[in-house]
Amino acid sequence: MRILVVNGPNLNMLGIREPGIYGKETYEDLVKKVTSYGEKLGISTAFCQSNHEGDLVDAIQQAYFTGVDGIVLNPGAYTHTSVALLDALKAVRIPTVEVHISEVSKREAFRSVSYIREACIATVTGEGLAGYCHAVDLLLQHLGEKKEEAT
Ligand code: DQA
Repeated sequence: MRILVVNGPNLNMLGIREPGIYGKETYEDLVKKVTSYGEKLGISTAFCQSNHEGDLVDAIQQAYFTGVDGIVLNPGAYTHTSVALLDALKAVRIPTVEVHISEVSKREAFRSVSYIREACIATVTGEGLAGYCHAVDLLLQHLGEKKEEAT
């Protein structure tokens, strides 16, 4: 089982950016946390982060060509604007969970809009960095159910 964790713009600034909203832990802490969670569950996790929309599209396409089983995606601000990310998810049809560290529904109105949500199997918001581990759980549950259906 291989899961790709994709983070969009400014998530490399975790620990520095708005700690009252995003907390004090860094992007490296996030990678460590999800890597060790994956190890505990016996699955492989890979990570990428970019501040550029096209790089995120490339990462999603690459996931298809390398046989990734599931994607955990926090597109940052591109959540609220990106038809390109929605189309990439629709193209690859890899089960994807949308994650937001903050409770986006309780912030500015524009943060309640998600262009990618319709292509995701679930959304996790407002759980801090632990939300990424929750997203891994949801993916495993979904992929397990798919396997059962196929047998
Ligand atoms: C975010 C929420 C977005 O609105 C924001 O632009 C981010 C981070 C979150 O994780 O809470 O960059 O996706």
